[in-house]
Amino acid sequence: MTPKILIIGASGQIGSELTQKLRSIHGAENVIASDISYNNVELVNSGIFERVDAQDYTSVKICIEKYQINTIYLMAAMLSATGEKFPRKAWDLNMDSLFHVLNLAKEGFIKKVFWPSSIAVFGPTTPKENTPQYTIMEPSTVYGITKQVGERWCEYYHKQYGVDVRSLRYPGIISWKTMPGGGTTDYAVEIYHKAIAEKKYECFLSEETELPMMFMDDAIKATIDIMDAKKDDVKIKSSYNLSAVSFTPREIAESIQKHIPEFTISYNPDFRQKIADSWPKSIDDSRARDDWNWKHAFSLDDITNEMLTNLKAKAEQTV
Ligand code: SER
Repeated sequence: MTPKILIIGASGQIGSELTQKLRSIHGAENVIASDISYNNVELVNSGIFERVDAQDYTSVKICIEKYQINTIYLMAAMLSATGEKFPRKAWDLNMDSLFHVLNLAKEGFIKKVFWPSSIAVFGPTTPKENTPQYTIMEPSTVYGITKQVGERWCEYYHKQYGVDVRSLRYPGIISWKTMPGGGTTDYAVEIYHKAIAEKKYECFLSEETELPMMFMDDAIKATIDIMDAKKDDVKIKSSYNLSAVSFTPREIAESIQKHIPEFTISYNPDFRQKIADSWPKSIDDSRARDDWNWKHAFSLDDITNEMLTNLKAKAEQTV
């Protein structure tokens, strides 16, 4: 099957880089970017772009028929911090969009779906160290609830209707091209921007809050690997634990200080601290490693190197 791909939520942090990567693999004409807004100008101008409202079934269906799409990456979602401010909106966006895509697959329009889950599916009662694939899951954020329920629906659509849906529980994703929005792990991106611009950062999480994180290139690789894997190798039909590194705000600051010795960090935890405290510190992703050979490449110091180098170059370009 030659993939004809639609990315929903292509303007976001992960969607924007995933789109470019998929275009380089499959050809720009086979990868359609879509989002509710035109605000990512670079993306809108770099290939086929359609305005699609993920919550509107007809809007998605028209686009699929227009381009004869057979593969969807559903990257639109409201993340954890924003979701706590708008619980009902988060529920509606995250669930409506998933149902539309799963139903289009059930009806035979779509052959393959990627839908991201998150470490947010875990909650305060989950074991925090090396969190297993199968364990207690009592998410306490709206975002986490939508992701956990979404996982159940993915598995259900696979079992009942044979839908080929593949999913990863992303940790916090660190990248320099497009800013994240509304997440609890966003501090690990902001800190690099502030390190370059101001040489100081006030963190909204406390010094020793350890969370699982990953560099964007690793996240994109995992996404493409699971979509390319043989159907039989993707044994978990809900969502795979996925992990790379875990660190605290203190440790990321120390990593930055190796490049910018005068960099300082201070701590002023806000409502996001409670969200972070409910999530795992580290994740056991051995099933992904065993089933479809997942392997991460970037350590914390590698990430720091990439972030500082690329953000500095970008800042110099815009001067
Ligand atoms: N990055 C997400 C968040 O912080 C977690 O999946 O909401």
